[in-house]
Amino acid sequence: MLSSEQDLMKILSSSVSQVWIDTSKGLDVRPGAVGLSLKEVQQQVDERLEGITDKTAVVRSSMEDELVTALRICERSKAAVVKMFSHARMGAVIELGEIDTLVDEIACSIHRHPNALISLARLKTADEYTYLHSVAVCALMIALARKLGLSEDLVHEAGIAGLLHDIGKATVPDAILNKPGKLDDAEFELIRQHPQAGCEILVLSRHVSALAVDVCLHHHEKVDGSGYPSKLFGEQISLFARMGAVCDVYDAITSDRPYKKGWGPAESIHKMAEWQGHFDENVFKAFVRTVGIYPVGSLVRLESGALGVVIEQHERSLLTPKVKVFFMTKSRTPIMPKVIDLAKLIGTDRIAGRESPEKWGFRNLEELWRGPT
Ligand code: C2E
Ligand code: SIN
Ligand code: FE
Repeated sequence: MLSSEQDLMKILSSSVSQVWIDTSKGLDVRPGAVGLSLKEVQQQVDERLEGITDKTAVVRSSMEDELVTALRICERSKAAVVKMFSHARMGAVIELGEIDTLVDEIACSIHRHPNALISLARLKTADEYTYLHSVAVCALMIALARKLGLSEDLVHEAGIAGLLHDIGKATVPDAILNKPGKLDDAEFELIRQHPQAGCEILVLSRHVSALAVDVCLHHHEKVDGSGYPSKLFGEQISLFARMGAVCDVYDAITSDRPYKKGWGPAESIHKMAEWQGHFDENVFKAFVRTVGIYPVGSLVRLESGALGVVIEQHERSLLTPKVKVFFMTKSRTPIMPKVIDLAKLIGTDRIAGRESPEKWGFRNLEELWRGPT
């Protein structure tokens, strides 16, 4: 008995060209359906599968609930990446089994709530940077691929590519990766080898797809041709590598790295928008629609004078997120934190601009959106 549409798909995509239906076991085909071509049947199945995926897409969680699950997924993913890097250092091939499962889980988490895991993965200490950076880029790639309307298969591939993009750093000595200051020329030259080194590791691991190998090799290319290793120009860089460049840099500059403190998420988006020649404009626009102009965790000043932290994006408008206000600039006094939905306050209050937490001396802004840890 066929019990699921997926089983039917398996048969349709196999080399089996004809089947007998034993009508004593179940239903016959609908009268009139016998004359359908394979293509027509496939089309019907596709339509029905689409209906099924749509249904799973609407099973959403609240930010609060998803943060709990996302934290567990992040921890397990980080452990898997640590293991993967240590295998790579020993010259072993990359096993995709566990990674595939984790990427599926990350993709599901982002389905349930688009910003929970992405916001969490941004928070990392300098010494865990390399590992959690891979997890963060994986999550950003998945969300961006969906925003670009790619099929779920490609969304999954984008996630794998994100998780593997910096695997070449396994060949760079920790003393260089974790050097607190600027790199000298020789050190930077060695770092600039990490795309090729990663590519070699992935090619040896025969089941890693061409798409992931391409992102690994070309995530440091820039559309003006000034990137490395190949100085590719514009559309010579594949769509996935252009996506990788945006996700990689956003997570790098919003994180505390061994060599530099991170910038706030809204400030980072603002800076990236001003850089000429690095990113593909359309991919960057889609990225902004993914994380927001004021991503979760941004400190913003409202026209009313209140300061707040963005805790949730609005589904369609980038300018009216939910904000937790906690401080009045006019009286310079803290107030009882309160969530306001700017989409419901149009004409009353709105974001006047982003603010620097350092300037105001605020620490632990994360607590306002992720709760105490
Ligand atoms: P990463 O830290 O993961 O950074 C990835 C990319 O994000 C960088 O590639 C760069 O395009 C962008 N990025 C990161 N921080 C900044 C920043 O402060 N300003 C701007 N404009 N862009 C930034 P890039 O430059 O090719 O560096 C590749 C890797 O080399 C970095 O990966 C990091 O591991 C290492 N690296 C680069 N500069 C330094 C440094 O001064 N000290 C140390 N210890 N490592 C460095
Ligand atoms: C079937 O479910 O067996 C035929 C497809 C359909 O109902 O359209
Ligand atoms: Fe890199």
